[in-house]
Amino acid sequence: MDNPLEVEPLSKNALKRQRKLEKLEKKRAERKLTRKRKNQLKKEKQRLKREGPQPGPSLNSTKKERKQRLQQAREHGVRLVIDLSLAHLMTPKEVASLCRQLTIIYVENKRSEAPFHLYFTSLSGALKETFNQFSPDHEKWLMEIHEKSFLEVFSSEKESIVYLTADAEDDLGDMTTADNESVAFSKDMVLVIGGLIDRNRHKNICYKEACKNGLKTARLPLHLLEAKCRGSQVLTTNQCAEMLLQYNVSLDWRVAVQSVFPKRKLVAHPNEAEVMEETIGPIAEACMSVEEHTTESQ
Ligand SMILES: C[S@@+](CC[C@H](N)C(=O)[O-])C[C@H]1O[C@@H](n2cnc3c(N)ncnc32)[C@H](O)[C@@H]1O
Repeated sequence: MDNPLEVEPLSKNALKRQRKLEKLEKKRAERKLTRKRKNQLKKEKQRLKREGPQPGPSLNSTKKERKQRLQQAREHGVRLVIDLSLAHLMTPKEVASLCRQLTIIYVENKRSEAPFHLYFTSLSGALKETFNQFSPDHEKWLMEIHEKSFLEVFSSEKESIVYLTADAEDDLGDMTTADNESVAFSKDMVLVIGGLIDRNRHKNICYKEACKNGLKTARLPLHLLEAKCRGSQVLTTNQCAEMLLQYNVSLDWRVAVQSVFPKRKLVAHPNEAEVMEETIGPIAEACMSVEEHTTESQ
């Protein structure tokens, strides 16, 4: 070599070895993070046992702590997308309800101990106008909002996209990585929930759309419910997001499913007449009531 400072290019095998090492390193870091979260959870459970129950989901954290967590999620968190491309199928009233759900999702994510890197995609037209009226300060929110579709935003990562739909054949809890490691979701995944309120007029629509676009699909593991479910297992957009958030904190699907699935959709519930698709879950309710009493934005 003429110039001693010039680095010789790596051979094909050395490059392969290097990539393998990098992949292993990444996996190790992910496992470390999961272990850390499990330990934190264990400590938190012990603390709760000592001090008695605390109100709501992380209502005690300071604004600074929440902001830090959201910023970390934006850098390293699992991406959770609300796909708003089906807004044209909704009535103006449903559009307004969906805008309320989007606000709830943002607030829940903000308050969570383990937030996602949140995206709203295809936010345009009448939905955008209503959303602007509904949440005029959304430009300050620590999340991504796009007019583009999620397919465009994640065009280079199509194989990482998992569209959640009640009509999928596989459970999200049974997903495996390329190394056959069983995970609910890994850091590389882009989880997509359909932003749609249609009282199931458009059956299978998200599943059909996902298949048409060659995407992976998965359903929430609702078979873990301890009571029998009445009617459809189709949840609202914000209930799905809430279940994922609960899982991300507890790392336990049973906890997530049991605490978020609407009780009145269960067979044993006395209030038979009141089954509606559109509800807000317990965490959402807590978040909304807290939010009503605070003026802070983002
Ligand atoms: C109200 S549902 C949409 C229902 C629509 N008629 C359909 O069949 O796709 C809103 C979104 O919540 C998600 N979702 C609802 N129930 C689910 C379940 N059991 N498992 C996974 N995702 C679910 C899907 O992403 C769906 O697009």
